Amino acid sequence: MQSMHLPQPDKVARQHSRKLQDKIIQTAMASRNGAIDFAHFMNMALYEPGLGYYSAGTHKFGEQGDFITAPEISPLFAQTLANPVAGVLQQMDQGNIIEFGAGSGILAVNILLALEALNQLPEQYFIIELSASLQQRQQQLIQQQIPHLQHKVCWLNQLPEEKINATVIANEVLDAMPVQRFVIDDNQIQQLFINSKLELQALPASDDLIHAVRHIENELHYQFPDGYSSEINFFIQPWLQSLSDSLNQAAIFLIDYGYHRAEYYSPERHMGTLMCYYQHRSHDNPLWYPSLQDITAFVDFTAVAEAAVQTGFDVDGYTSQANFLLASGLGEIVERQFSDNIQTQLALSQQVKSLTLPSEMGERFKVMALAKNLPQKIPGFELRDFRDRL
Ligand SMILES: C[S@@+](CC[C@H](N)C(=O)[O-])C[C@H]1O[C@@H](n2cnc3c(N)ncnc32)[C@H](O)[C@@H]1O
Repeated sequence: MQSMHLPQPDKVARQHSRKLQDKIIQTAMASRNGAIDFAHFMNMALYEPGLGYYSAGTHKFGEQGDFITAPEISPLFAQTLANPVAGVLQQMDQGNIIEFGAGSGILAVNILLALEALNQLPEQYFIIELSASLQQRQQQLIQQQIPHLQHKVCWLNQLPEEKINATVIANEVLDAMPVQRFVIDDNQIQQLFINSKLELQALPASDDLIHAVRHIENELHYQFPDGYSSEINFFIQPWLQSLSDSLNQAAIFLIDYGYHRAEYYSPERHMGTLMCYYQHRSHDNPLWYPSLQDITAFVDFTAVAEAAVQTGFDVDGYTSQANFLLASGLGEIVERQFSDNIQTQLALSQQVKSLTLPSEMGERFKVMALAKNLPQKIPGFELRDFRDRL
C-alpha cells in the first residue's frame, strides 16, 4: 500500500485507516463472493460513520487540506452564483435554498451575504450534509461570520417531508457519490470488486451494470474495446427522484467537473475518470490508505440530463463554469471590488483566473441547471449553452 510520490501519513492517521480497512475486510468476508462492489467500498471509504474520509474530522478543504474547491478559492464564486439564484428566488413563492454537501460552510456564508445585499434572502437556507464533523464546522463558521443570518440556516439529515419550493445548490457533490466500475475483458463486461485482501478483483457484472454499459454503447454507436475501464454513477437518478418528490417549484444548480457522454466515454479515456486526492497530490489508487484520501469520479452530464428528464425536470442549461460565471455578472462584481491597492488587484485577478481559465477550473467544471414549474428560464446560460452536446 505504498505510493512513491505521496507523503507518508503519520502513525495516528495510519492507525485510523487501519480501523476502516478492518471493517472493509470484515464486510467483504461476510459478502457473497467474499468481496464488495466498488460503490460499496467507495461509500465506506468516504462515508462510514466516524471512519470514512468525509465522516471523520480531518481538514479536507483548502490550503491545509487535500483539495481546494471554487467557494474556497474566492468569495467571487458565491457572489456571482447569487445573481442567478436571486433570479430564480424571485420567480418562486416562498422560495428556500437547499445546499447539499456544504463543505466548510463558506459558500453558504457568502451566498447569504450576497442575497442580503440584493434584498433577496430565502425563507430558509437548508443544508443537507452527510458528515457530522462537517455539520459542526459549518455551524461554527456561520455563527462566527454571519450571526445576524444564523436564524435562516437549518441543517437537515434528509429532504423536508412537506413539499416546498427551493433552489438547490450542489457544488462538487455528484463527483463525491460512489460509482460502480467496469472493465471489458474478452468482450465481456466485468465489474470491479474489493476482496478481503483489499485487492481489486474483476467479477461478472450485475445485470444493472451490464444494462447501463450497453445503453452507453448504444447511445454512442460504438463498442468498448477489451481493456476499457470506466465508471457509472447509479446514485444520481434516485437522488434527483427524491428531489422531484420533495419540491413543487425547483431550480437545481449542479456544478462539477465532468463531460458530456461522448467525451466521458471516449476511446482515449480508457482508464476512466476516477481520481484520489491527498494533500493536493492526485493519483489513481483508491486502495491507498482508505479514509485518509478523497476518492472522486468525473460526472457524465448526459446521464444527469437523462435522469433529470425521467424524474420530471427540464434541463434549462448546460455550460462551462467560465461561461456561467461571466454570464452571471462576474465581470461587474470584480469591477465593483477593484481598488487602487495593488495587492487587492493582484488577488482579484488571480482568483478570476483560477475560476475561469481553461487551464484551471473554467472548462473542466460545468454547470447544469434543472427546472421544475418555473415561469421563466433559469439565468446564467446566455453566453453559451452546450445542451446540444448532451
Ligand atoms: C468535494 S466535497 C464539496 C464540498 C463543498 N460543496 C465545496 O464545494 O467546498 C463533497 C461533499 O458532498 C457531500 N455529499 C456527497 N453525497 C452527498 C449526498 N447524497 N447528500 C449530501 N451531501 C453529499 C460530502 O459529504 C461532501 O461534503
